[in-house]
Amino acid sequence: MHRRAFLATAAAASVASAASADQLAVNGGAPVRSQPLGTANWGPLYYDEKEQTQLSDVLRSRKPFRFANSLEQSKVANFENEYAARMQTKYALAVTSGTAALHTAIAALEVGPGDEVIIPAWTWYSCYATVIQVGALPVFAEIDESFNLDPADIEHRITPQTKVIMAVHLQGNPADMDPILAIARKHGLKVLEDCSQSVGATYKGRPLGSMGDIGIYSLQQSKTITAGEGGAIVTSDPYLFERAVRFHDVTVRRDFPAKLHYMPGLNYRMNEFTGGVLLAQIRKLDTIIGDVRRNARRVYSGIRDVPGVRLRHLPDPEGELGTGIFLGFRSNAERQRYSDGMKAEGVPVSGPAGSVVLPVVPEIEQKVTFIPRWPSFASERGQSIRYGRECCPRTIDILSRFAGVMMGPKYTERDTEDAVTAIRKVYPAIVAA
Ligand SMILES: Cc1ncc(COP(=O)(O)O)c(C=O)c1O
Repeated sequence: MHRRAFLATAAAASVASAASADQLAVNGGAPVRSQPLGTANWGPLYYDEKEQTQLSDVLRSRKPFRFANSLEQSKVANFENEYAARMQTKYALAVTSGTAALHTAIAALEVGPGDEVIIPAWTWYSCYATVIQVGALPVFAEIDESFNLDPADIEHRITPQTKVIMAVHLQGNPADMDPILAIARKHGLKVLEDCSQSVGATYKGRPLGSMGDIGIYSLQQSKTITAGEGGAIVTSDPYLFERAVRFHDVTVRRDFPAKLHYMPGLNYRMNEFTGGVLLAQIRKLDTIIGDVRRNARRVYSGIRDVPGVRLRHLPDPEGELGTGIFLGFRSNAERQRYSDGMKAEGVPVSGPAGSVVLPVVPEIEQKVTFIPRWPSFASERGQSIRYGRECCPRTIDILSRFAGVMMGPKYTERDTEDAVTAIRKVYPAIVAA
């Protein structure tokens, strides 16, 4: 072909492809990707010979029970030491799950029948269930556009029975801890941080879990680091630590002379296989979150100038993990159009996920019916607390209007560019419509 004719044909082709690339895939245009963007669970992507060696050590030792080993030899004890150092707390205690960690922390805080715990209306079942299981009353507060507890909705929920504020850091994003801690101090309340979905994130330079009286983490498969199941508790308060240790180990305190009187406990001890895998994983925590954050920042910087773009509220953008790039819409219908548009481009989005709107779960709306005779639930106060949709309408509204592209630590530059291209293509078309 003559060179000039070739150039003209090539230019025409590129104009044609630009035109079809601009047209939304949902309307018949070319999609940004043919393979949908998506990530596997983060921790297992980093499994290698380090985890394997830890497991082989335990097999060879024939001592999978943590207390069959000395403090120096125990994988679990070593994991706890490194975890406490990373979270900048005096103590860390490994347990079998995030739910076990919550139960242990609540028991350590001496929450009991008739006490009230303020929890965000949008959080995981375990936050609610562990409060119920000790005979205490959960009191829901609204979330804000960070998807976490709204500090402005806490104070009017406090009563003389309130003992604890549970600040949950969902989907990689720290809750706004300064005002939450100030309210707790003003009213003499304890703060429990649930960092299960944000292991490794920080708030104004402080590791999540280190700011409240006690912090808990899930190390289950979908969390930042994992051994399939697992959990951890951190605190810098020796009294809370001793109570937590006793509660998780059927009362016994093995490594120090007993200071407390009898305290009935359960068995939430971690085994050495789990401890070994988590020891290998805690050493990779900063690599994993560094990789996710790098990818999330590429996407944030690629969409910052999109007209009218409205991000999820980030109380500390430096500290969040970048688990998902969440954008807000004016209505649920608009979000649905964005979701359909992004799916067609091969860059699917999801609503705030991994948790549950407790007020809209029907059995919870009917309020703790499985133990109605417990005095705390049968009491006038127990009967008066509202759990239905009417207790947190703003939470329900916010959750219906946000959607995000989930980030993965192993995304390539091309993956993040595709996320940017798809958002730039679909978002303005939806919000301008
Ligand atoms: C916020 C939150 N808290 C607690 C838990 C409970 O953790 P686990 O599944 O390890 O019991 C989860 C689990 O997803 C969670 O998301």
